Amino acid sequence: MATLALKSVKKAFGDTTVIQNMDLSVEHGELVVFVGPSGCGKSTLLRMIAGLETLTAGEIHIDGQRIDYQPPSNRGIAMVFQSYALYPHKDVRGNLGFSLKHAKVDKAEIDKRVNIAADILGLQDLMSRKPRELSGGQRQRVAIGRAIVREPKVFLFDEPLSNLDAALRVHMRVEILKLHQRLKNTMVYVTHDQVEAMTLADRIVVFRNGSVEQVGTPLELYRQPANQFVAGFIGSPAMNFLKARCVDGHIALGSDRVCDCPQAEEGDVTLGMRPEHLKIDENGQLQGEVQVFEHLGGEAFVHLTLDDGQNLVAKLDGEHYLRPGERCTLGIEPEKCHVFDTAGLRISTD
Ligand SMILES: Nc1ncnc2c1ncn2[C@@H]1O[C@H](COP(=O)(O)OP(=O)(O)OP(=O)(O)O)[C@@H](O)[C@H]1O
Ligand SMILES: [Mg+2]
Repeated sequence: MATLALKSVKKAFGDTTVIQNMDLSVEHGELVVFVGPSGCGKSTLLRMIAGLETLTAGEIHIDGQRIDYQPPSNRGIAMVFQSYALYPHKDVRGNLGFSLKHAKVDKAEIDKRVNIAADILGLQDLMSRKPRELSGGQRQRVAIGRAIVREPKVFLFDEPLSNLDAALRVHMRVEILKLHQRLKNTMVYVTHDQVEAMTLADRIVVFRNGSVEQVGTPLELYRQPANQFVAGFIGSPAMNFLKARCVDGHIALGSDRVCDCPQAEEGDVTLGMRPEHLKIDENGQLQGEVQVFEHLGGEAFVHLTLDDGQNLVAKLDGEHYLRPGERCTLGIEPEKCHVFDTAGLRISTD
């Protein structure tokens, strides 16, 4: 168990600043997920915590001790990478124990820790197999096992599941959650996948261009995104954004009143509506024509062009079936609407 603190951390490669003045605290035993678009600096930050990259400015503390000038092996950190790069000529046992052997830990201790990790990850039956004799998910478990045997204070995961197929990703996501519940270690987990972020995280940190857009629990980010960027990033399919106007304290789409918003100024705003909050309702506020209807069995997505020309996606239950060209009227409860000002900041509708 350990706390992790980043204090005014900056990173530049030459003239390009990749991480701008980052402050962040991770509590004992917390699983914090970093999400953000490609190139926003997630891996760079993780690599700085691990000691694989130097800091341009700032400090990193673990349990209150400054560690950013320490070599990676002294930081009490273990990192699991997307490309797990196991040693091809060593079997599972050899791969799991390698870092301890290298650190000259005695054999009895290595055996003990390797066996504990193998039990946790269900690898006992595979101990004498070589990596080429393992499935992708089994290899990924060995990569996680290599981190566990080191008994780190902090685990760092950099997109550990992105090489796996969809079903295995779901399975491994649950395995990682179980691992966290069992070990109760502090973990920092990087992913592109907002479903992984929502399901794994105690708190999510949303990055953009090397700075933090918002930090919060998954439901805080889903329900009260600070701005349009976070709103569009969290939730799948993504939130719909429509051009709307604030008139007399309410938000209007054309002549239809959608919700109250006493705090917005008169004029242009962006109205945000999650696809799952839209329902077929003949008295609803949104009329349009079906462009595409995607049926997934249990649920369906309707892509609608509204009468003012704006496009919208709604997630309906699988009972519905609509045809392209058909008219459709959708409604949304006013309290489910999000309103953003012209700078993209969220305005409370209370
Ligand atoms: N060694 C380097 N030299 C120069 N620029 C670098 C170096 N490493 C990373 N960068 C740049 O820093 C930025 C952040 O890269 P980083 O790998 O941290 O992004 P990321 O958020 O992990 O993206 P992804 O989701 O694609 O993995 C990118 O613009 C990248 O090109
Ligand atoms: Mg990365």
